[in-house]
Amino acid sequence: MAEVKKAMISPSILAADFAKLGEDVADVCGCGIDYLHIDVMDGMFVPNISFGAGVMKSLNSYTTVPYDVHLMIEDPDRYIENFVTDNTEFITVHYEACSDLKKTLAHIHSLGVKAGVSVKPKTAPEVLDEYLDDIDLILVMSVEPGFGGQKFMPDSLDKIRYYSALKDEKGYSYVIEIDGGVGEANADIVREAGTELIVAGSAVFGAKYRAAAIRAIKGGI
Ligand code: DX5
Ligand code: ZN
Repeated sequence: MAEVKKAMISPSILAADFAKLGEDVADVCGCGIDYLHIDVMDGMFVPNISFGAGVMKSLNSYTTVPYDVHLMIEDPDRYIENFVTDNTEFITVHYEACSDLKKTLAHIHSLGVKAGVSVKPKTAPEVLDEYLDDIDLILVMSVEPGFGGQKFMPDSLDKIRYYSALKDEKGYSYVIEIDGGVGEANADIVREAGTELIVAGSAVFGAKYRAAAIRAIKGGI
């Protein structure tokens, strides 16, 4: 039997119940997750507003895993500092939202945090080629950013394969993450393509048995 490829998971709190966010976060932290995915939307870069750093900081006493912050905001340098906490491992900005990506990556690193870059579905994967030495995580969007619960775009797997092949070939150290529309039904093809970290919102918080859903999405414990 072929070996099952495994991946880490980062549940998106966008799909949690905001009225009992701490409780929901503590619950999934007890179910074998690796990171918490913090979706920050500004109503400019994407047509939706979610929450800011204050909400994330209020979760510091509930989480037992590090934050994986996804900033869907225009000109993110203005707000990066606000998202740095002892729990923050990655801060990810959008390629499309930065006027000087090299400077933004240096800014994130200067704060002692790992730097991620996300690309929207219509952005060509090659745009990141010149920055790969400075990138700790690549977040491939498999839906148009802005909303949870959308349908997975299968073309995103080619992008995952592109970054995965380049990583193998050149020895880069970035983590390959996917975000949008991933659940138990398609997690295997997503992992097979080379994804190392899977974001899942509705498939985790909406599951009847969250621990089982998490295990299935990761491909095992
Ligand atoms: C979309 C967000 C995603 C989203 C994932 O803009 O970046 O993280 O919440 O949600 P699901 O897993 O429900 O597609
Ligand atoms: Zn996200």
